[in-house]
Amino acid sequence: MRIDTSKPHPARIYDYLLGGKDHYPVDQEAGEALAAAAPEARMGVRANRDFLHRAVRHAVQSGVRQILDIGAGLPTSPNVHEIAQDLTGGVRVAYVDNDPIVKAHGDALLRGEGPTSIVLADVREPRGILDHPDVRRVIDFAEPVALCLVAVLHFLTDAERPERIVAELRDALAPGSMLILSHATGDFADRRDAQAVYGQATATLNLRPRARVEAFLDGFTLVDPGLVQCPDWRPDTTPPAGSERIGFYGAVGRKD
Ligand SMILES: C[S@@+](CC[C@H](N)C(=O)[O-])C[C@H]1O[C@@H](n2cnc3c(N)ncnc32)[C@H](O)[C@@H]1O
Repeated sequence: MRIDTSKPHPARIYDYLLGGKDHYPVDQEAGEALAAAAPEARMGVRANRDFLHRAVRHAVQSGVRQILDIGAGLPTSPNVHEIAQDLTGGVRVAYVDNDPIVKAHGDALLRGEGPTSIVLADVREPRGILDHPDVRRVIDFAEPVALCLVAVLHFLTDAERPERIVAELRDALAPGSMLILSHATGDFADRRDAQAVYGQATATLNLRPRARVEAFLDGFTLVDPGLVQCPDWRPDTTPPAGSERIGFYGAVGRKD
């Protein structure tokens, strides 16, 4: 498997901003450029990750026992399966990402980790994910699934019709399933400089306003408090100063 170290990759930039170790100099440079363009970038990725933790706990505490995490990212402790399995044994987790480095690290991490899998696939081809044998081995689509699309849809352009992709995934889910969604936005601060940093990366950053993010939740009933900035989704600590500028929306919806 060839790892391209000549261009910044979203997974590795995110790892750098989260304080991880799995990135290269190009990613570090892009991360620093992002932090210069958006001073709360580090706070923002942390808020996004913490939202994911709280939302996964919510899904498991609501009775969901299967998680399909698309755009899973590099392993970052605690990982989704660890959060879920900490609450109750036997939660089945399929991770999906289109970056080979995520697959390589995931393979190493998940060896012997119970009912989990990691699949190299692209959210732009949802059918390939839904039918993938390593997804099917772990996920039974006749039962409720928590579908995580966390900080991934903003890497899709409008021309790739992300609403259609989410609808196709939603239609495959059984009643009682949940969508855990987060998405980058420029609604709270001008983010054009941050967007420009991704001009050199393997994926573009497509910030979307509230109404566009809301549209991804069509067909789901939002659980309280609805679509909010990530730090405001059922916070378990006081959001840090400056968090009102964080450019990530988060929401959890339930398919009835
Ligand atoms: C910012 S990270 C988010 C990681 C994790 N979901 C989280 O929020 O902590 C985005 C991830 O989405 C992946 N990604 C980007 N475009 C993708 C695509 N078209 N299909 C699948 N994964 C994609 C990247 O490789 C990266 O690992």
